[in-house]
Amino acid sequence: MLTTNDFIPQAYSHNIESGEFQWSAPSNIALVKYWGKKDNQIPANPSVSFTLNNCKTITTLAFAKKDSSTPLTITNGKFSFDLFFEGKPKEDFKPKIQKFLERIEIYLPFLKEYHFTIDTQNTFPHSSGIASSASGMAALAMNLMSIEKALNPEMTDAYFYQKASLLARLGSGSACRSVKGQVVVWGNQANIEGSSDLYGVEFPNAIHDNFKNFQDTILLVDKGEKQVSSTVGHDLMHNHPYAERRFAQAHENLDKLIAIFESGNLEEFIKVVESEALTLHAMMMTSMPYFILMKPNTLQIINAIWKFRNDTNIPVCFTLDAGANVHVLYPENVSKKVLQFIKDELVGFCQNGQYICDHIGNGALSN
Ligand code: DP6
Repeated sequence: MLTTNDFIPQAYSHNIESGEFQWSAPSNIALVKYWGKKDNQIPANPSVSFTLNNCKTITTLAFAKKDSSTPLTITNGKFSFDLFFEGKPKEDFKPKIQKFLERIEIYLPFLKEYHFTIDTQNTFPHSSGIASSASGMAALAMNLMSIEKALNPEMTDAYFYQKASLLARLGSGSACRSVKGQVVVWGNQANIEGSSDLYGVEFPNAIHDNFKNFQDTILLVDKGEKQVSSTVGHDLMHNHPYAERRFAQAHENLDKLIAIFESGNLEEFIKVVESEALTLHAMMMTSMPYFILMKPNTLQIINAIWKFRNDTNIPVCFTLDAGANVHVLYPENVSKKVLQFIKDELVGFCQNGQYICDHIGNGALSN
């Protein structure tokens, strides 16, 4: 079993003045939810997600050795970087990146030696309520690992991806599930080989064809800023009256999913996935302070999905993130009927009628 020390590099074999890399990394949708964490971004329970394909962040990272004459006072413990979002300087994202670089400095000793220019864009609409922290932190972590690989070309692919996921986790927990593989587990689970609290791993067991090219249509219910950030929400799981039971339940649900992935039993899949979504929001409603991220239209959509499923027997279900948007999940072979249902009955509940069609993808890609 690897420990954090295994990711602290020895001296690098190469010296590089400057360069540029570009990676895209997708968003992911959790089936068993990560909600609650310990110090250093260690999850309170294991989670598993489908990697998405179309919703992604594309990040270019240019780097150049700092001039040795750069006065130290300018550096002042801070990293040297410029940040552009969709081509424009983005000052308000900088503190988050600064904090990320501080957290990962011990793993990437070259960080203070370079000036970085980070240029990032999303394929999904800005402020759509779709979390870009997972795809964004994963894309940045991939680029940083490309630099480390250039400094140390002997690095194996396995190490490259594992460490990329570890770094992404330190940016945003769910980001560690956006690096590699279609179904990704993050967090120790006794019966999942290789699973770790430190990084995400590709689900190692059998997956039934029912889940092949599984569809996720994201209904944009509310594009407003969330009243409560995920980070605050995670924090409220400390001293939460139901925390321990919830963490145990996540292990149980992940266990059930192992069998479900193998058998392809969609009825059981739906039960686990919808229960996880509602439990996540139940944790929010039962924390102190309590809060509600669902909107009236979130509930309208859930009820419409339940009615449609009852009437047609089509195995379609929903899941939720920490927000009001609804992810509609269904197998590829019913996609025509489900898309028609979405157009006929659910689009009216979306802000400006907006929704995004996505499906399972493979993870980050370098360009
Ligand atoms: C509800 O990964 O955004 O989407 O680690 O504080 O950045 P931080 O939290 P974040 O939490 C995501 C929580 C979730 C469930 C999930 O993706 O597992």
